[in-house]
Amino acid sequence: MTSQTFFTLEADGVSVVIDLSTGTPVVLHWGVELGGPNQAKDLLSAMQEGVPHADLDAFQNPGIWRENARGFLGRPAVLGHRDGQDWSQMFEVVEVSSGENTLYVRSADVAAGLEVSVNFELGATGILKISQSIKNTGTSSFSLGDLTTWLPLPDQAAETVDFTGRWVKERQPQRREIQVGTWAREIREGRSGHDYTIVQLAMTSGADYQRGEVWSMGLQWSGNTRHLVERQPTGRTTMGAGELLLPGEVILESGESYEAPTVVAGYSAQGIDGITDRHYRWLRSRPNHPSNVRPRPLTLNVWEAVYFNHNLEKLVQLADVAQGIGVERFVLDDGWFGDRRDDHAGLGDWVVSKDVWPNGLKPLIDAVKDRGMEFGLWFEGEMINPDSDLYRAHPEWILHVGDRIPPEGRFQQVLDLTHQGAYDHVFGQVDAILSEYDIAYIKWDHNRTLTEAAHLGQAAVREQTKAIYRLFDQLRANHPGLEIESCSSGGGRIDLGMVEHADRFWTSDCNDALERQYIQRYTQFAIPPEMLGSHVGPTHSHTTHRTHALSFRAITALFGHAGLEWDVTETTPEERAALTSWAAYYKANRALLHTGKMIRVEQKNEAAFVHGVVAQDKSRAIFAYATLRAMPGQTPSAMRFEGLDPNAMYRVKMVEPAGSPQYIHRQLPTWLGGIELTGAALAVVGLRPPILAPENAFLVEVERV
Ligand code: GLA
Repeated sequence: MTSQTFFTLEADGVSVVIDLSTGTPVVLHWGVELGGPNQAKDLLSAMQEGVPHADLDAFQNPGIWRENARGFLGRPAVLGHRDGQDWSQMFEVVEVSSGENTLYVRSADVAAGLEVSVNFELGATGILKISQSIKNTGTSSFSLGDLTTWLPLPDQAAETVDFTGRWVKERQPQRREIQVGTWAREIREGRSGHDYTIVQLAMTSGADYQRGEVWSMGLQWSGNTRHLVERQPTGRTTMGAGELLLPGEVILESGESYEAPTVVAGYSAQGIDGITDRHYRWLRSRPNHPSNVRPRPLTLNVWEAVYFNHNLEKLVQLADVAQGIGVERFVLDDGWFGDRRDDHAGLGDWVVSKDVWPNGLKPLIDAVKDRGMEFGLWFEGEMINPDSDLYRAHPEWILHVGDRIPPEGRFQQVLDLTHQGAYDHVFGQVDAILSEYDIAYIKWDHNRTLTEAAHLGQAAVREQTKAIYRLFDQLRANHPGLEIESCSSGGGRIDLGMVEHADRFWTSDCNDALERQYIQRYTQFAIPPEMLGSHVGPTHSHTTHRTHALSFRAITALFGHAGLEWDVTETTPEERAALTSWAAYYKANRALLHTGKMIRVEQKNEAAFVHGVVAQDKSRAIFAYATLRAMPGQTPSAMRFEGLDPNAMYRVKMVEPAGSPQYIHRQLPTWLGGIELTGAALAVVGLRPPILAPENAFLVEVERV
């Protein structure tokens, strides 16, 4: 073991300073690079607090495990007990090893029979990953309640942002002042959920997209979760995240360990966009990141076109029109298997229905492939309808407690994938379909929350979550090149754990472009657009019944993994022409849209969103201006452009790949056809946008001259 007690990890403007001199890992600093030579001792003394009256007699920094035994009175990192004993621990460092920007520490409480370990890894993009585990070294079993990963926030962290949401309105931000107490966002629905905080932010007062310091924490986990911000009465603030364990869910037998989901922590000195940028650069640095494998194919999903009415002739008509538009992937959604003629039956029976597909799926797949497209298929393998052959054969294969049958959700129960028989059944049937047919992509749904999720009475969300990761990985291993989309009634399973097992997320069942402006903006805080399905929906939205111009829907869908979800056989020739030109625009520009830096510009009023993608070398950008409501002023405030090179000259012009927005004008601004300005002028002066009706959008192309 090294005798060194002070460690600094440094990358891309971020420093993490960890001290072990008090016998436990203390994160002294996580944030901006501190610079200068080794400031170990002085930093420690700088942070040494005075001792007030009516407190313990010496200052104690409890470190990351926050033991009560060290005098800490907030929420400890470890909660648990051994039959009422060993609930209070004091861990002492027993092993330390460090590498380039990594630090591993193992600590033990020999008397309590427990060991904890932590691994810090600061990646090249400044993303800090922290993995913790706990091991029962005692002789009897230890019931673990909680192992949370905590990081300190500096005193200037004043506000937090987390997210709430529901079906068809995912990820609405909540911003609040940090006050004394513990602010907890808990998910107990057995999936990350529509209400999930993919990434929690803490920031300096008034921080915005471009300015201010921001600290973020996300969890690589798709089951139950807890995100926390805690301010002590002392004023010290910490941010934490971990898996939410149900009572008795993890009981460690002698020698067993629990691995907490990895925490992904980001710091930005340049506002929220800086956090987003770190996330994107981290995810895109993975060799198997979807846009590193191949350009994201323009997708048509037939769900809102046909729902459960599967009919070869109609689907081939759709494929014909799709081919004309330039679609590259054709996805058959729910309804092709078992007795699945509506949502009352069939889940669990993953065999092609003889009733609707007497000759199997081959005729459709051939038609799709003949038209130059690849084929995708829908599954919902973790679910089971009581009206299914599988349930009739194995009613015991559902997650449940005792004799109670959980309430149905969409007429379905959750299949217990921790049951080997159930797992093998699903894997076997899905694998057989993928082996029989040429299928490039599967959309994997999850349309029910987990309630009383137990295997033989014991809570099983954790094991169920691990099972679906295993299943996805095994399917991908058996079918190289297979892409998986994680869907859960739209955006109910989008998280930083699933990014390692799936290639795409269905962002929301809401294809209403106005709602999508918000849903995509906030989901994109942590997840890059190439992983987020965004489809042009029907003229009249099926989920909100709003009507939107095609240009607005198309521009909104462009900033994602684009596609269509609309009965395009009903489109007019003008609409088809607009879709064809938009499809070509998507293909010509996806390399930029899926590799560039995401920029969201603070507008003076929030009646419009301005966002764009700027090439990493700042040579090009595409920005969108989208009106959300009627403008408060007679004429709108300037559209500004951030993220460009202030000293470079740029040519800017409006482009209309899917037709014009609805103007409310007697005379349009003169710049639309193109003008040249510096990046500085574009950032500060900006452009006067044309006056648009609410719920309209246009694009501006920016090119260095
Ligand atoms: C969920 C999905 C939809 C669609 C239906 C099919 O709601 O989010 O996109 O696949 O299931 O039943």
